[in-house]
Amino acid sequence: MKILVTGAAGFIGSHLTETLVSNGHEVLALDALMPDLYPLERKVANWNRLQQLNENVKFLVSDLRLPVNPLDIEDCDYIFHLAAMPGLSLSWEETRLYIDCNVLATANLLKACDPKSLKKFFYISSSSVYGRRIAGDESSPISPISPYGVTKLAAESMVAAYSSSTGLKYSIFRPFSVYGPRQRDDMAFNIFIRKLLNNQEIQVFGDGSQSRTNTYVEDLVNGLISGINNAKNGEIYNLCGNEQFNVSQVIETLGRILNKTPKVIFGTERLGDQHETKGDSQNARTHLGYSPQISLEVGLTKQIEWQMTQ
Ligand SMILES: NC(=O)c1ccc[n+]([C@@H]2O[C@H](COP(=O)([O-])OP(=O)(O)OC[C@H]3O[C@@H](n4cnc5c(N)ncnc54)[C@H](O)[C@@H]3O)[C@@H](O)[C@H]2O)c1
Repeated sequence: MKILVTGAAGFIGSHLTETLVSNGHEVLALDALMPDLYPLERKVANWNRLQQLNENVKFLVSDLRLPVNPLDIEDCDYIFHLAAMPGLSLSWEETRLYIDCNVLATANLLKACDPKSLKKFFYISSSSVYGRRIAGDESSPISPISPYGVTKLAAESMVAAYSSSTGLKYSIFRPFSVYGPRQRDDMAFNIFIRKLLNNQEIQVFGDGSQSRTNTYVEDLVNGLISGINNAKNGEIYNLCGNEQFNVSQVIETLGRILNKTPKVIFGTERLGDQHETKGDSQNARTHLGYSPQISLEVGLTKQIEWQMTQ
């Protein structure tokens, strides 16, 4: 199969591209190599790593905020659309950038698709569409509390709108706080590990009780890829881990793995932060056979090993 992965230079997109290629697929890797949110050199390193894979990966540096040439993507069987501006804090300051990269860019990509030949458009949304608390499956109430969450929900609606008027086949995935090697520098686990490795104080936004069902990146990628054969048209799939931990427990686990005593300062919560995510991947289990394998302790150890090489 020929598969377009947008956002291929990013944290999740680079892992997805690698696994698709090792499974024998051809991939068109698209990215604008955006300089925002975290150092561009990380995305360039991911992009360069993909270039070492094999002749089954082709590359397209392209900004989806501009119209997409349908000829560039006409022979793709599937699209995994991950290109976006993630991270909720920056979305309050750079709201226009989030609207453009997450909503307008999605519309531009949809316009370039041929609904007759494309087998499925997979939109990678986010658990942030649920809002301050989510404890449940895909039927849980939707109420985003940050501009980032609003743009991800708007993009979901954009995909559904195109589908209803053109017959485009699609599925939506909602990952929950993803971690592992290559995690973005702005994300909590990356920051905690960096601080611990440098013997610095860790600043926590809030009292440490915010909890997550974090998803290890390899589990997420396996869930996404099983969508190729198993995802149903118009369905939504939560992709999260099986275990729920709060921030204080994560820091304690990191301290144990690194054999260090973390110094933690607690501050005020960030605007738009989710307090609790306790996802249930009910649909993904049933349709995709989704079953996360990596425990927090093992996943954090792999992320630490990677960060020690950076
Ligand atoms: N990391 C998480 O925990 C998480 C959780 C839920 C959902 N997601 C979603 O998964 C996707 C990937 O997230 P990530 O953590 O890998 O982020 P990332 O920032 O590492 O990757 C996103 C990539 O998209 C590219 N991009 C941004 N705007 C673009 C544009 N206009 N045109 C072309 N490329 C553009 C960036 O250059 C970047 O390489 C995003 O859609 C995000 O909303 C991530």
